[in-house]
Amino acid sequence: MSNDPLLQPYQLKHLTLRNRIIVTAHEPAYPEDGLPKERYRAYTVERAKGGVAMTMTAGSAAVSKDSPPVFNNLLAYMDEIVPWIREMTDAVHEEGAAIMIQLTHLGRRTRWDKGEWLPVVAPSHHREASHRAFPKKIEDWDIERIIKDFADAAERMKAGGMDGVELEAYGHLIDQFVSPLTNELDGPYGGSLDNRMRFCFDVLKAIRARVGDDFILGVRYTADECLPGGTGKEEGLEISKRLKQSGLIDYLNVIRGHIDTDAGLTDVIPIQGMANSPHLDFAGEIRAATNFPTFHAAKIPDVATARHAIASGKVDMVGMTRAHMTDPHIVRKIIEKREEDIRPCVGANYCLDRIYQGGAAYCIHNAATGRELTMPHSIAKADRRKKVVIIGAGPAGLEAARVAGERGHEVVVFEAANDPGGQIRLTAQSERRREMISIIDWRMSQCEKLGVTFHFNSWAEADTVQAENPDVVIIATGGLPHTEVLSKGNELVVSAWDIISGDVKPGTNVLIFDDAGDHAGLQAAEFIAKAGGKVEIMTPDRSFAPEVMAMNLVPYMRSLQKLDVTFTVTYRLEAVEKSGNELVAHVGSDYGGIAKQRTFDQIVINHGTIPLDDLYFELKPASSNLGEVLHDQLIAGRPQTAWRNADGKFQLFRIGDAVAARNTHAAIYDALRLVKDI
Ligand SMILES: Cc1cc2nc3c(=O)[nH]c(=O)nc-3n(C[C@H](O)[C@H](O)[C@H](O)COP(=O)(O)O)c2cc1C
Ligand code: SF4
Repeated sequence: MSNDPLLQPYQLKHLTLRNRIIVTAHEPAYPEDGLPKERYRAYTVERAKGGVAMTMTAGSAAVSKDSPPVFNNLLAYMDEIVPWIREMTDAVHEEGAAIMIQLTHLGRRTRWDKGEWLPVVAPSHHREASHRAFPKKIEDWDIERIIKDFADAAERMKAGGMDGVELEAYGHLIDQFVSPLTNELDGPYGGSLDNRMRFCFDVLKAIRARVGDDFILGVRYTADECLPGGTGKEEGLEISKRLKQSGLIDYLNVIRGHIDTDAGLTDVIPIQGMANSPHLDFAGEIRAATNFPTFHAAKIPDVATARHAIASGKVDMVGMTRAHMTDPHIVRKIIEKREEDIRPCVGANYCLDRIYQGGAAYCIHNAATGRELTMPHSIAKADRRKKVVIIGAGPAGLEAARVAGERGHEVVVFEAANDPGGQIRLTAQSERRREMISIIDWRMSQCEKLGVTFHFNSWAEADTVQAENPDVVIIATGGLPHTEVLSKGNELVVSAWDIISGDVKPGTNVLIFDDAGDHAGLQAAEFIAKAGGKVEIMTPDRSFAPEVMAMNLVPYMRSLQKLDVTFTVTYRLEAVEKSGNELVAHVGSDYGGIAKQRTFDQIVINHGTIPLDDLYFELKPASSNLGEVLHDQLIAGRPQTAWRNADGKFQLFRIGDAVAARNTHAAIYDALRLVKDI
């Protein structure tokens, strides 16, 4: 047996966990009608197959109707959920993993205009900044009802074959009772710590009475809100001890921080550019003080840090949650001594930011996650070895090369630049986006193992490509910054990429017109402002940088608000003129009736990219499909059979930004779903 600390089994009461790695609760927003149907099951089972000890399915499954599913949560209050839960738990158990579910009442952390349109309840009227609902102050009959709802839901989960349930007590109703900041009740549920913890214990007692002893019960709670006037560390330690002493629960799952604002949430679940494992020592302190089974997750993305978390005795079970969204087979690869093959989580937080925008969780660089019913995590070998020539070694081209290599094809990649990476190499120039380069590095090392041939500094012409005698040609040449959006003065502006790459020196009084709304605009602003420039970011949209999304915006704001940067929404840059050494910006508005003139010394435009598609159009007449992609075949996962030119010698496809400006995930998804069937 291995002596790797991560691979040692752990006895949690009657439940034997096969190793020390868990996936903590997370709602990927895959439910259909509030139920975990085939897609949800396939996602969960893939992680069990990959070897994880336990998966905590769902995040925040709702126990009551007035806990509306604000990010498409599972509805644990419905009896219909039981057979779906049963199918999932049976399938996970078959793979040797344990499975639990997190239950909650969201309290004020939701919206009244979701689900059944019931008023939101909390132990005070204070609104949560993130979800904006003004709550009703909870009444005695609400409390009784919700305690019963928790017990009913736990009973359903036990009937569905779950090994246990976890209560969510950070930012949700249970700890809204505990925290002095959100509890303004008098009497039995407000005031002293005894009173503020009463709701939590009433819920735990009601659940225990229903599910009995042979069912795991845990609490995921904040042991330090890190907010003035909130639950501090000292009280958090006391709460931890009381939870243990209650004899009602089997483990503690430690959180540090608060999640009522985007900034608070981002400190609890740090993203790229922020420190790894920031709360691990704190979790270790709780374990030392309580001597009780302790779980913890917060940006422990790599095996070495996870191993340290266990070996140092800081925690009993280590959560690698986003890491498993990126690679569901982490444990299997550890066992097979293939740690270097683990696809790294780069902390891009595309997964989590999407669910807060009402979308499903997708991983920025694993397009199979959440699409297990149609996209493979392990690529099958092709029946016939083909010659695949790929032009461009950005994310799309490299994913195409990796997948074609896994298929067993002979793969040749041409790249005009010195190095692979395309736009990712540029974006990784910012210190906080440095982790993005792992998207490229992992693919390069996989391609090397697969014997892919690379030609860097090679500007591929149609002749070069045809001389390779390819069966398939994939154009992944990306795009060039698109700045020609003005009625006049396009030649006077520079692109956000010019600034980020260092090709153009930052100005001192700069307008950034950003209607792409992605990272490049903010990155350029930061480069300029850090160099001492004054920057105004202007957008015609209702809010700035909408593609960056909530948690990704936090580190930018922490930086930009300290610099000389302002934001102007709802105005459009229409034209630019030169006047002496200055540039005059003509500014209008989509709402009409506005014509302003402003003066700057540099004007930057961020308007996405325009496809670099010359080679594609040159090759098109010589191809057998004339570039055509049959969408039905692409979506159904069947090989492409378009045949439009009898003289054509090869199939030709184009992917990523070489088709149209999109994002990294779209580029990688384009590549995976096309090439897995080539
Ligand atoms: C898409 C997504 C949804 C999440 N939803 C929940 C949730 O409902 N409840 C919860 O306690 N944590 C939730 N989390 C937080 C994770 O459990 C975990 O604490 C967090 O991702 C940090 O761990 P990691 O760095 O290993 O990913 C969610 C995380 C993700 C990525
Ligand atoms: S989107 Fe980013 S943070 Fe989320 S799982 Fe993928 S790599 Fe990790």
